[in-house]
Amino acid sequence: MSEHSHHHGQASGHFHTHTTDAELAETLNLDALILGSYLEAATEWAAELAPDAAIIMDVGAGSGAGTVALARRFPQASITALDRSAVMLAQTLAAAQEQGMAGRVDTIEADLNNAWPASASADLMWASSSLHELADPERTMKEMFAALNPGGVLIVIEMDSLPSFLPESMPEGSAVDPGVEGRLHAALAGSGWNQYPEWTAGLERVGFAVERRHFPTLGSSTPELSARYARAFLGRMAFALEGTASSADRASLEVLLGTGPESVERRGDLVVRGHRTGWAARKL
Ligand SMILES: C[S@@+](CC[C@H](N)C(=O)[O-])C[C@H]1O[C@@H](n2cnc3c(N)ncnc32)[C@H](O)[C@@H]1O
Repeated sequence: MSEHSHHHGQASGHFHTHTTDAELAETLNLDALILGSYLEAATEWAAELAPDAAIIMDVGAGSGAGTVALARRFPQASITALDRSAVMLAQTLAAAQEQGMAGRVDTIEADLNNAWPASASADLMWASSSLHELADPERTMKEMFAALNPGGVLIVIEMDSLPSFLPESMPEGSAVDPGVEGRLHAALAGSGWNQYPEWTAGLERVGFAVERRHFPTLGSSTPELSARYARAFLGRMAFALEGTASSADRASLEVLLGTGPESVERRGDLVVRGHRTGWAARKL
């Protein structure tokens, strides 16, 4: 315990204060691999509501998990991935190429905080974990409503909570306090991370007819994948506890992100959990 109770200089690499798009893309890819079962259910929902969608937009596409799932679900459609990050769009195109779908996927690099790209219209729009990142989400909803063809559908997806990995209790003598994860989530929530309002009212205000669904997800994963996701997520988010964390919490994170027997790679008891909510907003 004592060897972990200080914030070693050597550990500073674990406490990133800055995340690159490439790091975010890695987390998103692992999320899709492990917690991606909602993609199956949510694209099926989209296909029920917009069976003939020929033009689809993935708004805030990130590394392309949604784009690829939509291209698979709608084999006749063309999909436009929109993001402000060129790094993300390159990853989306690479993912589409890998699945042999590159011919049906194109990209628009645009920052929606400026304005909706004038020429972009669609039968189906998909905004997964992206609406809450916008400066004025309701303005963008209004723009999406206008850019949807009559009868069109917007699917909005958000994570109900940040992904968690640790079991509820630890064996006696463990250097990891299982409460660290809850405190990390609370600290991130306090700084506005992944916070979103109940979108129903805003979507209705701009004219949509709205339905809502919950997608509970227990990750299906190998220990190796769980460890990679835990390292990517905790490594990227640990900065949130900097300055406020107790020394026990710092020690816990250092142990998890270190290389010892209780590190994420070697502990073998991680269970990835994550839940999502989806809104189907129809332009009647
Ligand atoms: C958390 S990621 C979600 C990615 C993907 N939809 C998914 O569910 O895995 C949010 C994405 O929205 C993009 N984004 C954030 N603000 C944006 C803006 N103002 N205009 C366009 N894209 C934006 C980010 O670059 C990032 O790729």
